[in-house]
Parts: sequence; C-alpha cells; structure tokens
Amino acid sequence: MKLFLDTASVSEIRRMWEVGILDGVTTNPSLVSKEGRVFEDIIEEICALGVPSVSAEVVATDVDGMLREGHHLAALHPSIYVKIPMTAAGLQATKQLSREKIRVNMTLVFSANQALLAAKVGAAYVSPFIGRLDDQGQDGMELIRDIHTIYQAYKYPTEILVASIRHPIHVLEAAKIGADIGTMPFAVMEKLVQHPLTDIGLARFLKDWEKVPVRAKVTGPGPQSTR
Ligand code: E4P
Repeated sequence: MKLFLDTASVSEIRRMWEVGILDGVTTNPSLVSKEGRVFEDIIEEICALGVPSVSAEVVATDVDGMLREGHHLAALHPSIYVKIPMTAAGLQATKQLSREKIRVNMTLVFSANQALLAAKVGAAYVSPFIGRLDDQGQDGMELIRDIHTIYQAYKYPTEILVASIRHPIHVLEAAKIGADIGTMPFAVMEKLVQHPLTDIGLARFLKDWEKVPVRAKVTGPGPQSTR
C-alpha cells in the first residue's frame, strides 16, 4: 500500500520524504489555509522534493471553473493530481480532464455509488473519507470494502485512496482490505514507525553493549542525528 501524507506543511513532508516511506501528498483548501502561504508556492515546493504524487484541489464549483483551475494546477508540475469534489459538475470536469490525460483525484466521497461514478468518468484516484463517516456513527471501513469489491468486479483502474485517516488501526484495516493508498496526518505516520517494545528492546541492547570491549569507537551520533 502506498502511504501519503495529508498535509500542506513542507517541513512535515520533507521529514517523511527523508525517512523514505512517503509515496505522495494530499492537500485540501483547509490544510493549505493553515500555512498562510501562496498556494502555488507550497505545491511547487512539495513537487521539487521529488514526491511523485501531489494532490492539489480546485475551489470552483462549476464545470468551466473546475476545468480552468484544473489546467492551471496540472501545468505547475508533472506530479500533480487535480483534486475535484464529487458533484455532478465534478464528474463532468473529471471526465473532460481524464480525456486530456490530466489525472484526477475525486474527493469528498462518502458512498460506494459515488465511487462507482468516479471510476466511470476515469478518475485516477477516488478518496473516500472514512474518519468523517466514523465521526457520525457509520463504519467508514465498510465503505472501503464495498468500493474494493466493486472495483475488483469490474476491473476499474481507479485507485482507492483511503482519506480522513485518524489512527494506525485505520491504516492496518485499509491495508488488509487491499486499498491502494492511505493518506494520513504526520502524527499518524509517525505512530506507524513506533512501538514501545522496540524502544525497550533498543535501550536494553545499548545498555548491554556498554560492557563489550571494542577495537575502535565508530558508534555515536553522526552529523544527521541532531535533526
Ligand atoms: C483527503 O484528501 C483529505 O484531505 C483528508 O483526508 C480529510 O481528512 P479530515 O477528515 O481529517 O479533514
């Protein structure tokens, strides 16, 4: 499963990119507004890191506006995926952009029928928001199962991008279902790395190692360990 960060913070993205576990980035208007910076500057900076998939969202709600913004965003960098909301206008714009070979991430998807439509108009990604469904008492993961079943049955190439992930169990469940991508906040991705038994085990190994004589001292912090 590909792991994406759901953020517009370049420093967070740079950190996970350096660790080497990042496959892409999703942004949305709310995340971008938190940064207080020019939208295009943020997107170009993320792309310049080498991140191969960067989703940038349109804010127009009519077809012409979505197409205009979609063309503008796609022209910024070859790694851009244009994020378009799941509305009738969004479906129409997605069909047109897909014909032009511009990759679309259909966002704000909350039902399997909406996901079916996204695949039919040629979206590259479909983004079901599981956390927001959980928040209102509906099982978000059930939606991922349904979309996966439908896409398998018809062999749709649209990739399932599990969005609105809130915790590591969401990532685990999505991976078990076979979702293509999970996008998550920095704090959730950090938790994927950590386990208390890893920390305890490492501390014990290092303590025991203090008693071992060595020929040359090659251990100790390197130039990168101050990060
Ligand atoms: C996905 O692309 C969205 O940006 C995101 O996952 C929404 O998550 P939220 O429900 O935590 O805002």
